[in-house]
Amino acid sequence: MTSRGRLRIATVVGARPNFPKVASLMEAYRSEGDGVVDPVLVHTGQHYDDAMSGNFFRELGLPRPDVNLNVGSGSQAVQTARIMTGFEQVVLDQDPHAVVVVGDVNSTVACALVSAKMGVPVVHVEAGLRSGDRSMPEEINRIVTDAVADLMFCTEPAAVRNLARERADPDNVFLVGNVMVDTLLRFRERARSSHILEEIGVTAGSYAVATIHRPSNVDDGAVLVGLAEAITQVQSAIPVVLPAHPRLRSALAEAGLEAWSNHAPNLTMTGPLSYLDFVKLLENARVALTDSGGVQEETTVLGVPCVTLRNNTERPITIEVGTNRLGGVETEGIATAFRVALQDGASRAEGDCESQARGGSLPPLWDGKAAERIVPILIEWLQKRA
Ligand code: UD1
Repeated sequence: MTSRGRLRIATVVGARPNFPKVASLMEAYRSEGDGVVDPVLVHTGQHYDDAMSGNFFRELGLPRPDVNLNVGSGSQAVQTARIMTGFEQVVLDQDPHAVVVVGDVNSTVACALVSAKMGVPVVHVEAGLRSGDRSMPEEINRIVTDAVADLMFCTEPAAVRNLARERADPDNVFLVGNVMVDTLLRFRERARSSHILEEIGVTAGSYAVATIHRPSNVDDGAVLVGLAEAITQVQSAIPVVLPAHPRLRSALAEAGLEAWSNHAPNLTMTGPLSYLDFVKLLENARVALTDSGGVQEETTVLGVPCVTLRNNTERPITIEVGTNRLGGVETEGIATAFRVALQDGASRAEGDCESQARGGSLPPLWDGKAAERIVPILIEWLQKRA
């Protein structure tokens, strides 16, 4: 224990995928760290719309942030710099014993860099994932964050191997499971009472969910046109629900594709959905098509066949034991992967043992207890340093 009695742990959220991950950590600070951890929740404001942020706080029961930097949108450099400048003052004001960052968004790397340079231990949750594709901003964020992290918590064995290859100290690397899965399992039952299927007008097991928002997919007009064509083909086979990220909306306008959904009668484009509505929609989908990292993991847990709209994934376990397959970003490849996934879903629904085995197992430690493992390790590590 430190001289101040409790361990002040600043935990950073910024963008949508951070919220479910940090929800399970906040819960574990209460349960495992009661009386020991003094949590400080910092929101960078990278995402700020109610549909991308506030709604998640309410549904997941996240406490109001102690600090909100309100950085908003900007280029990679502008956004990262604004977070760094704001977070430096937070570290000066709060004087935390450690800073916990999750995932791979700009808020993750910006706060990790600031903390490391100010001599505050950096804890990275979801460390070690590597796609090998440095054209993705997230890959740069992952590499840089792990390079300055003191403690690294991993979701899958490949991440531990990646960190070993990058010469991270093995004493500081822990395979603990997946904090996003903790939250998915905790809220799955509650999500079942969402009425989103009726609101959209689809029935369970009869539609596909699509999400597209990666800069490499939406900011390049030619790639976006190919993806739109693939989704158009998919919706001629099965209704498609596409909750559109704001980045996709503006990219469609930029590429002259605003009217795309009007020419695809079986495609329903919605705004960003709340956490519980999205979980309900995903759990009942026949197939998912996505370029999101989180959705690859969520479909693995929910047993929904997933086509990843990328040429690589930093989450190989979702392919090895889960329901995921890479579809690439070209129309033909996606259409082929979709047909196989659709068949896979049908066989699984009919109880085909072989495909159940292929798509039915969970990665090790994805059992809803990752945050419960992380918090005692973190407390012990900090107490030893005191
Ligand atoms: C960020 C993350 C990405 C993550 C995604 C989840 C980085 C580098 N990328 O990408 O890894 O998968 O969040 O959503 O950190 N916008 C709004 N309202 C908001 C937030 C953003 O309209 O509340 C719009 C703005 O026009 C903004 C654009 O969306 O320019 C992109 O937002 P940004 O935070 O830059 O990146 P994302 O694409 O959301």
